[in-house]
Amino acid sequence: MNRIDLDGRVAIVTGAARGIGRAIAERFAASGARVAIWDVDGEAARKAAGEIDGAIDLAADVTKPATLAAALAATEARLGGPDILVNNAGITGPNHPLDEYPEAAWRQVVEIDLIGVFNCCRAVVPAMRRRDYGRIVNIASIAGKEGNPNASAYSAAKAGVIGLTKSLGKELAATGIRVNCVTPAAAKTDIFAQMTEAQIAYMLSKIPMERFVLVDEIAALVAWLASEECSFSTGGVFDISGGRATY
Ligand SMILES: NC(=O)c1ccc[n+]([C@@H]2O[C@H](COP(=O)([O-])OP(=O)(O)OC[C@H]3O[C@@H](n4cnc5c(N)ncnc54)[C@H](O)[C@@H]3O)[C@@H](O)[C@H]2O)c1
Repeated sequence: MNRIDLDGRVAIVTGAARGIGRAIAERFAASGARVAIWDVDGEAARKAAGEIDGAIDLAADVTKPATLAAALAATEARLGGPDILVNNAGITGPNHPLDEYPEAAWRQVVEIDLIGVFNCCRAVVPAMRRRDYGRIVNIASIAGKEGNPNASAYSAAKAGVIGLTKSLGKELAATGIRVNCVTPAAAKTDIFAQMTEAQIAYMLSKIPMERFVLVDEIAALVAWLASEECSFSTGGVFDISGGRATY
């Protein structure tokens, strides 16, 4: 493992109680950062924080700005910073053709996956501006670039995250804050329980490397994007799709 230098940095990782977010939190801790796990699942977050060196857990729902303000205040009081924000919390929602997709489920995916990113950036960017330093990494998806059938809400929300990243990157380009996103192919995590077997088989069939991406592979890319050395990239979309992406 390359030891990316995150010494002394304070990182917020949303949805880090499990899966990709947890792998990112572990990698950050191994690189010297102190991590605040913001997750709606308080029990799992507590367990994860107990197992990651120096990490703390804070109950936060990315759809509820008041919980984010409280989590930020607690992060600042207990750890300082924040220097890094990884917007990772997300759901896929169920798989249906668009004309059969339940409206409430469609809205919930957009509420968590896209508006949640807006809410967290809105909460944290002012603190980064005050210190004129920050690294924001948004976890989008290859679905946001290509569009997966039977996942219109997820594909639309993740395309929105890519657009938000480009917009915010430009807004903050003249400051010390960098904003980028990654677009992973499918990773075998608990999120698979939300999808049909056919959807999972479809996603695997689209990956030229013929395997799922590992959560540690995503964490390695995110660690560099969260580091000071990522200095001249902003508003960028970083591929990690095993050869699936064509742009
Ligand atoms: N696993 C994949 O195949 C894959 C591929 C590309 C992108 N992604 C994206 O990566 C991110 C993480 O996915 P994962 O596979 O680790 O999922 P996961 O289901 O394993 O973990 C998601 C975490 O987010 C938390 N969460 C959900 N809603 C929340 C909310 N409203 N507020 C705060 N926390 C909330 C959950 O409690 C959970 O701990 C998601 O944004 C997902 O869309 C996943």
